[in-house]
Amino acid sequence: MCGIVGYVGNQQVVPVVIEGLRRLEYRGYDSAGIAVVNRDHEMQVRRASGKLRNLEEVIRENPISGEYGLGHTRWATHGRPTEENAHPHRSGDGRVVVVHNGIIENYLELKRDLQARGHVFKSETDTEVVAHLIQKHQQLDPQADLETAFRRSLNEVRGIYALVAMSADEPEKIVAARLGPPVVVGLGDGEYFVASDIPAILPHTRNIFFLGDGEIACLAKDGVRVTDLEGNEIKPQVQRITWDPIQAEKGGYKHFMLKEIYEQPRAVRDTTQSRISLDTGQVFLDEMKITEAEFRNFTDIKIAACGTAWHAALVAKYLIEELARLPVEVDYASEFRYRNPILTPTTLMMVISQSGETADTLAALREGKEKGCKTLAICNVQGAMMTREADGTIYTHAGPEIGVASTKAFTSQIVAAYLLAMYLAQVRGALNEEKLKWHAQHLSELPVKIEKLLNSDTDYEELSRAFVLSTDFLYLGRGINFPIALEGALKLKEISYIHAEGYAAGEMKHGPNALIDSRLPVVVINTLDPNDEKSRLRYEKTISNIQEVKARDGIVVAIVTEGDKDTREVASFTIQVPPSSELLSPVLSAIPLQLMAYHIAVRRGCDVDQPRNLAKSVTVE
Ligand code: G6P
Repeated sequence: MCGIVGYVGNQQVVPVVIEGLRRLEYRGYDSAGIAVVNRDHEMQVRRASGKLRNLEEVIRENPISGEYGLGHTRWATHGRPTEENAHPHRSGDGRVVVVHNGIIENYLELKRDLQARGHVFKSETDTEVVAHLIQKHQQLDPQADLETAFRRSLNEVRGIYALVAMSADEPEKIVAARLGPPVVVGLGDGEYFVASDIPAILPHTRNIFFLGDGEIACLAKDGVRVTDLEGNEIKPQVQRITWDPIQAEKGGYKHFMLKEIYEQPRAVRDTTQSRISLDTGQVFLDEMKITEAEFRNFTDIKIAACGTAWHAALVAKYLIEELARLPVEVDYASEFRYRNPILTPTTLMMVISQSGETADTLAALREGKEKGCKTLAICNVQGAMMTREADGTIYTHAGPEIGVASTKAFTSQIVAAYLLAMYLAQVRGALNEEKLKWHAQHLSELPVKIEKLLNSDTDYEELSRAFVLSTDFLYLGRGINFPIALEGALKLKEISYIHAEGYAAGEMKHGPNALIDSRLPVVVINTLDPNDEKSRLRYEKTISNIQEVKARDGIVVAIVTEGDKDTREVASFTIQVPPSSELLSPVLSAIPLQLMAYHIAVRRGCDVDQPRNLAKSVTVE
């Protein structure tokens, strides 16, 4: 979602902030702005709707400079994505500016109070009230410095926020606070950074810390001080980022999404490696506050997640139920709290999230905690909120995912869930050593199969040419491939803006059949593991579904296993994936669907890495 970058130091602030914002572009945004204070203590603000290049154009026409400042890319929630609604927002006297990621829930109430005191508002946003609140507290107590006025303002605010503010009257100082959306502080040599995500500051420093909820950082040229909302000092936990900034760059690929699709062999390998023993089939989970005895005693698992991570959760259900014979229920995190879920002390509450910051997923995790469950997160971002709040985390080692549409995080989430399913089976005695070894072996072969798949000569150009003008798509899958049909449809709609629906193949006759005609591409996932009885059954039934599509003139694109004959005979296009066990086939089937969506979107001229209206990490509910 919104990006934030603030800087205090000796460099020219405008390039540092703009470059930082550019590194956060992947989060999705629809307007941008910057504020810097110059030597004459003048607050200079430039803003523009649309992309960063529009803001740069505004700055070119009307240059600004200074040594402390902050910038923002906004993903509209309250108010349209116009220049007036873009951040930074100013106090009435124009001396204070604020940028914000999140939602101020009581802003209307606060706005009315402030208006009654004579404050005049210029935007439709909730954020603007914070700038006015700071001014109000400075007026009420002229002794109060920015940090104090900021703290007093926060005590009036209800909602979630990453808030960063500065004043023209307090040189070289920036204050930042967090309640929900992440705030990261970068510690340089005589220079300090604040941002909403690490890539923004990585070219300058690798020493960082995340603000905790309810914490305030005050950045000045001589250092950073962290306090809580009462003003008590807190010692931040500084960490050194070991991943390479290059990992967050395109590395020769046209888009981050394509790069990330091609990183999947590595991502899957890193997620698996060091956690399984091929000799014994044993799985070793990362250290966590859930004991082996507790894992043994769980009676059920609830998983909450959003978007692509929700699809990974659906796959996880198949894996855990199959391997560990433990019942799993999967919820949209955004729905979880609204149905009074039955959680007992022996329920394991799980969340799956790339970012570890998605507001709905975090809320579901907290609900589980409140009800006394042990909580476990599958997460990609080190130190993210969910990893701090959960009793345990299984990290996916996918590396930074920049493309808004999730790819490598998804396949790594499935692999992490597979490891968990094996671990549960191991501690609960649901699988013997022989079986565990078999699974370990298959998991370890997966990266090579993905490499093979990525190097295959499937002609995605031809596919994208054939479907560039399609207006609707249907995706069908059965069994463990049903969630992959959902994910394939989501990928296509996210980045190409083509309407696409995923369906359980067997459900087709209960509605979607009515849509099929000669213009409707129907993508059917029909891989086969000949050694698995359920797979064979699924395969045959799905061929019948394909026949039904053909009988109505639908165009079938089938994902099949190498060497397949039967599906190939009836499909218009086939894409082959290497043979694999039934339970690992979702990882392989997902990849051609990512590539197909990518090539169609590129041919349609879409902004693949930053699709319209979407955000990478959705920190509002
Ligand atoms: C947004 C992103 C999706 C992602 C979802 C959940 O909608 O665009 O790609 O799957 O959020 O995000 P999370 O970080 O919790 O996995």
